[in-house]
Amino acid sequence: MKTERLILRPLRPGDAPALAAYRSDPAVARYQGWELPYTVQDAQQLIAEMAGRVPGDEGWVQIGLESLAESVLLGDVALNTSGRQAEIGVTLTLAAQGRGYAAEALRVLISHAFGSLKLEQVRAEIDPRNVAVERLLLTLGFRHTSTEYGGYLNRGEWTDNAVYRLKGEEWLT
Ligand SMILES: CC(C)(COP(=O)(O)OP(=O)(O)OC[C@H]1O[C@@H](n2cnc3c(N)ncnc32)[C@H](O)[C@@H]1OP(=O)(O)O)[C@@H](O)C(=O)NCCC(=O)NCCS
Repeated sequence: MKTERLILRPLRPGDAPALAAYRSDPAVARYQGWELPYTVQDAQQLIAEMAGRVPGDEGWVQIGLESLAESVLLGDVALNTSGRQAEIGVTLTLAAQGRGYAAEALRVLISHAFGSLKLEQVRAEIDPRNVAVERLLLTLGFRHTSTEYGGYLNRGEWTDNAVYRLKGEEWLT
């Protein structure tokens, strides 16, 4: 999948150092669930688990975001398909944030989910303190549907979990 500035492509073994570097960045990892530090070995394992998987396969599929102009890994998007719906995730390196890449990548992924994959709903689950992702989801047309207060254990801290949803019929019309 391509956008104006990005290519969405499978993660490759050569991405491991870059993936480990941005996942270990405390500013990037703050509201995410992986353990820190996130090592190159952890990244290699994730990349190996993703080999041969494509969006629409059941469970999480992690996809690399590469800049078309510079051929560098800017982050990743993910789709966790479960029956007729899927959850999305997105992570950008700090240097790539604030430039519209996340919205650009998610638009093409969501269009694929509702178009070719014929999914009916896409969901995102976020820490409500994560204002950058909240703004991104609202920009894309997601609606906040529920929050479970204090029900999510993340790195030893009980945090809130807010759910946002987008329906295929809303996206396609
Ligand atoms: C969540 C996350 C991906 C959002 O990234 P982001 O850079 O804010 O989102 P976008 O790439 O869509 O960029 C939007 C911003 O770029 C600006 N922008 C600059 N150039 C732009 C362009 N050509 N097109 C669109 N927007 C552009 C927009 O004005 C907007 O800024 P604003 O938020 O101050 O209004 C990022 O904060 C992140 O990686 N966080 C860490 C991981 C995480 O917590 N992920 C969420 C868990 S699901």
